[in-house]
Amino acid sequence: MVFLNGRFLPIEEAKVPVLDRGFIFGDGVYELVPVYSRVPFRLDEHLARLERSLAGVKMRNPYSQAQWRATLYRLIDAQPFQDQGVYFQVTRGVAKRDHSFPQGAEPTVFMMANPLVTPPRELVENGAAAVTAQDNRWLRCDIKSISLIGNCLLRQASAEVGAAETILFRDGKLTEASASNVFAVKQGVILTPPKSNLILPGITYDVICELALANGLPLEFREVDESEVRAADEVWVTSSSKEVLAIVSLDGAKVGQGRPGPAFARMYQLYQEFKQKVMRAGKREAVSA
Ligand SMILES: Cc1ncc(COP(=O)(O)O)c(C=O)c1O
Repeated sequence: MVFLNGRFLPIEEAKVPVLDRGFIFGDGVYELVPVYSRVPFRLDEHLARLERSLAGVKMRNPYSQAQWRATLYRLIDAQPFQDQGVYFQVTRGVAKRDHSFPQGAEPTVFMMANPLVTPPRELVENGAAAVTAQDNRWLRCDIKSISLIGNCLLRQASAEVGAAETILFRDGKLTEASASNVFAVKQGVILTPPKSNLILPGITYDVICELALANGLPLEFREVDESEVRAADEVWVTSSSKEVLAIVSLDGAKVGQGRPGPAFARMYQLYQEFKQKVMRAGKREAVSA
């Protein structure tokens, strides 16, 4: 069961006209909300980011926060599985093809819940491989745009060599990865680029930073040189589906000892505990680290 423009229906019956600006121009924004045991994780923050993405592309939010929540809960309850990744997609709607914005088009709103696939134990314990690439995307990476061809091309570079992610550098500085944020650890200090127009403000990134601060782990928000990433003791990628995952090889070279490090082990555990806390609190309460 999916949601399209006010109706719940089987995915096979969900159809969007070919003139939808999402199809024609990639003109829209999206969110992915992880749901554990039917409890959405950091929903307020995801809805706030959706609002910012919509404002960033000059679209009005078609629904109130209460409407988004009610629709999400109905969708969650309609699924036969417990852990879900729920996509929210909003496009500028259907209109005669013209780059400039149409007058009076109704936004298209689509939501679907997939089973949430987090990294299997084997990957958590042994870590993953990544490659690197120049970040050649646009300069509004802070908008969660459905125009993902830049990210798809970059992700494909790692997929082709069987690696889990493509870590990106712009002008010699770390930005993020094709579908995740990046942290490096050197001598116990966790380093990550500050939020800017060059990275997506990850909801998981915020959780990781909150957990570091709440547990007294040294954390620095600053520009991170490409050479620092290559010489780091540990590298992690974070996202709603990857949670926090250790990168143990970069372009075929070992990161640190070539195994997930102690800072990762600690952060992974803190993250899992935090998830448990959210689940125990139930679906309508916000939980902080
Ligand atoms: C480019 C990019 N950066 C970072 C992230 C991580 O964001 P979040 O933690 O909110 O899932 C994503 C998630 O899909 C992404 O696509």
